[in-house]
Amino acid sequence: MPCRTIAIANQKGGTGKTSTALSLGVALARRGRRVLLVDADPQGDLTKSLGWADPDSLETTIADHMAAVIGGSDDDPRAGVLGHREGVDLMPANIELANIELPLLMAMSRERVLATWAEPLKRGYDYIIFDCAPTLGIVPVNALAAADGVIVPVSAEYLPASGMAGLLRTVARVRRGINPGLSVEGILVTLYDARNNLAREVERTVRGIYGGDYRVFDAVVPRAVSAAESAAAGESVFSYDGRGKVAAAYARLAEEVDRRG
Ligand SMILES: Nc1ncnc2c1ncn2[C@@H]1O[C@H](COP(=O)(O)OP(=O)(O)OP(=O)(O)O)[C@@H](O)[C@H]1O
Ligand SMILES: [Mg+2]
Repeated sequence: MPCRTIAIANQKGGTGKTSTALSLGVALARRGRRVLLVDADPQGDLTKSLGWADPDSLETTIADHMAAVIGGSDDDPRAGVLGHREGVDLMPANIELANIELPLLMAMSRERVLATWAEPLKRGYDYIIFDCAPTLGIVPVNALAAADGVIVPVSAEYLPASGMAGLLRTVARVRRGINPGLSVEGILVTLYDARNNLAREVERTVRGIYGGDYRVFDAVVPRAVSAAESAAAGESVFSYDGRGKVAAAYARLAEEVDRRG
């Protein structure tokens, strides 16, 4: 099976990107897939959620690999990969990633730096999943340039505003200019509370407005405290609350994603 690279992106904050990267990654690993998660956010939330509580103390992160690509220096692309007990690998990030933005903006082929790093790793994985920061800056654009597909988590707690249009425009621009193979893998409704009228309206709106042009996943991720607690415990919802609704939703998502790939 050829490796599929997926960027989890939405420039709006707090829509469940990091939770989705982690839970989708673990769900795919539970299906027997070899998964590399890439933290592409200087906040290091994905790194922390997987149990590395102090990302700033890590020796090698994604920023080092990007610096090596920019500088044209020798680099082992696997250096610094961390193995998690739930069967996924992680390339971590920390605040150093914020310092790479300026050199990145001045680099040649500045949008292709992450793609250049990831290319040789594809032989060892079925999925490489990038967790993006909530911006449309140069690092998320690098993740889009490296990706076959983008998954857009949308919070059911707010009506999707102009932000979605901005992201979809960026995806179209990346496809035209840098990465013709990029597609919108799907839109994922997250933080869904069935008792809440707004949540039901958001789901209806997303399926109504975007469902014609894009896939909106059947899987809908419910809001549940176990999801937040599992991140604080450094594990996935599968080991924290494997029988819960959130784990079931991400298992379903993995099935939808894997069926395609
Ligand atoms: N299904 C869920 N139920 C309840 N809380 C959740 C759920 N998914 C995520 N959360 C919590 O909501 C917050 C935002 O989630 P997450 O960090 O995944 O979003 P994000 O889009 O990555 O945020 P950012 O834009 O800051 O990177 C976190 O505190 C997380 O623990
Ligand atoms: Mg995040």
